[in-house]
Amino acid sequence: MIDLRSDTVTKPTAAMRKAMAEAEVGDDVYAEDPTVNLLQEKAAEIFGKEAALFVPTGSMGNQIAVKLYTNQGDEIVIEERGHIFNYEMGTPAVVAGVMIRPVKSQTGSGILTWAEIESALHVNQPYYACPTGLICLENSHNLAGGTVMTATHCAEICDRAHEIGIPVHLDGARIFNASVALGESVAELSKNCDSVQFCLSKGLGAPVGSMLLGTKDFIEEARVWRKRFGGGMRQVGVLAAAGLIALTETPKILHRDNENAKRLAEGVANLKGVSIDAEKVATNILIFDVTSENISASEICARLKEQGILASAFGNSIRMVTHYDVSREDIEKTLQILSSII
Ligand SMILES: Cc1ncc(COP(=O)(O)O)c(C=O)c1O
Repeated sequence: MIDLRSDTVTKPTAAMRKAMAEAEVGDDVYAEDPTVNLLQEKAAEIFGKEAALFVPTGSMGNQIAVKLYTNQGDEIVIEERGHIFNYEMGTPAVVAGVMIRPVKSQTGSGILTWAEIESALHVNQPYYACPTGLICLENSHNLAGGTVMTATHCAEICDRAHEIGIPVHLDGARIFNASVALGESVAELSKNCDSVQFCLSKGLGAPVGSMLLGTKDFIEEARVWRKRFGGGMRQVGVLAAAGLIALTETPKILHRDNENAKRLAEGVANLKGVSIDAEKVATNILIFDVTSENISASEICARLKEQGILASAFGNSIRMVTHYDVSREDIEKTLQILSSII
């Protein structure tokens, strides 16, 4: 199968499996797992943040941040297709007791301007509006098609938010793909954000895990909330060992995934019956619309599956995600089969 449904489907490499087998471990609830501690130190160093915490999932990392920065009855401001809003099971409401204020990005890029964010804020409006407790950003933006936010843009939003006392959390599930696309380090891309979450288990290829980063105090509190969420893990150095390789080695080859997505997008743009602006494909995600009246997005995906290719249909659109288990030959094959189906 050529699996283009997501970069979450990557399987650990031989080097990761070897490191897992040989990992030194301890009880991480006591903060005594040396491999986890090393991973946390390494991640904090790479991002230029004070501290980091290994969490089982990106969702948990994001939701701990939402919980820690807000009070019940607050609002969080987020782009309307943001993952924290759409795909994390209503956790902001369930756990933090906050409302979501989704904001449309007028350019369609998913990257909000400060003006768009500002118009959605509630500051100093006691007794009739939910106060804004947190702004959540996403880089790259999954549902907008892997679009990227520059370091300058992100820093400006953070600076303006901080001037009025609002913290900013960055969902950087795929921030390494954004970093490769922009030629800016992950530290630069998250510089002024109060906290950032990134996934080891997506394009970086680890089997499990995400990192949450912020100040020492924030991470100390996050450790408590990780336990409350049921995410206190024990001899989890076996997973952190794979995470260390994902963090230090995979970014060196991540450019291939972005390049493969670009090639796929250019090929799709040449097909009749579908539409995509290949210019806008910056990272490893592409979303294209089905314009043909003869076949729907879900029918195309069903036909692709019959020929060994997996992709996701969302309404009238198809999403394809490249990752290190997808080669350039797989991309050419996908284009050939897609062309014959359409
Ligand atoms: C942008 C974004 N944030 C967060 C997550 C959540 O990660 P996890 O599946 O590890 O909970 C995902 C997962 O697809 C994502 O795409």
